[in-house]
Amino acid sequence: MKPPLFFEEDRVDVDTSLNRLMPVETAPPSSIHQAMRYSVFAGGKRIRPILCLETSRIFHADVAPAHYPACAIEFIHTYSLIHDDLPALDNDDLRRGKPTSHKKFGEAAAILAGDALLTLAFETIAAAPVDAGRRVAMVAEISTAAGTTNGMVGGQVADLEAEGKHIDPEMLEYIHRSKTAALIRASISSGALCAGAPTEDVARLRRFGESLGLLFQVTDDILDVEETSAALGKTAGKDAAQQKATYPAVHGLERSHQIANDLARKAIDELAPYGERASRLRDIAEYLVQRRA
Ligand code: IPE
Ligand code: IPE
Ligand code: MG
Ligand code: MG
Ligand code: MG
Repeated sequence: MKPPLFFEEDRVDVDTSLNRLMPVETAPPSSIHQAMRYSVFAGGKRIRPILCLETSRIFHADVAPAHYPACAIEFIHTYSLIHDDLPALDNDDLRRGKPTSHKKFGEAAAILAGDALLTLAFETIAAAPVDAGRRVAMVAEISTAAGTTNGMVGGQVADLEAEGKHIDPEMLEYIHRSKTAALIRASISSGALCAGAPTEDVARLRRFGESLGLLFQVTDDILDVEETSAALGKTAGKDAAQQKATYPAVHGLERSHQIANDLARKAIDELAPYGERASRLRDIAEYLVQRRA
């Protein structure tokens, strides 16, 4: 299935903003800026920033302010990929169809490029052209999602500690909700917060994001089994080789597809009160459950 048509337009706009919000490559020390830009512009799908913009659009026609949290989250996501690929973590050579950061620049540069992208994310939110209350709300939302308690780093820790072990379905769900769903949920809720959405809507969209985020990682696990490295732009079959805790490993492939479909339905149900205004978010959910890369 091809991505919805508005994806391409959003992706171009996001890339323009990412370029504007990052230090130029020649700014000293240029080696770090080169490494940061290499990974950010290696060709990600930009799902998180697109979700942020399209959530903001439900509440406000002008999505220019939402480019700030959208890019901040793409910086954090890219940092998480650089570090996820390090030899001490998943030890991967291929990312976004190119050699991983540490393969290209060495481990020290890859660690520092990740650190720098995480820091740049919060500099970016601080610069968002919205009132201070909204900026603080976005910092709280995004930092929590990237952190240790039910957040991305906590999930990465649990993912590593689960390698080679027997994991029950509850623990598996905790890992996936933390390492991946939290940041996807924050992409959506920060788009709502940036646009000044009412508290009740932010809470509803967080529930949409939670289901969508979990479905995203279930699908990532499925694709690791069913697709090729060429299609994915990263090494396929790695999860089984590293005895990772995945949905196919714990539930089998058929049940994993079923779980992903149920999560898409659950996510889409949350959007009912918005009717046509949420048609793009609905298209994204339908695409994410059918994507092949
Ligand atoms: C990969 O994320 C890592 C996960 C959290 C599953 P994406 O599939 O969004 O990676 P890019 O950004 O398109 O490279
Ligand atoms: C990604 O999980 C979670 C992150 C926070 C980066 P994976 O280890 O499954 O991601 P890929 O498959 O390497 O992209
Ligand atoms: Mg990993
Ligand atoms: Mg990995
Ligand atoms: Mg994976």
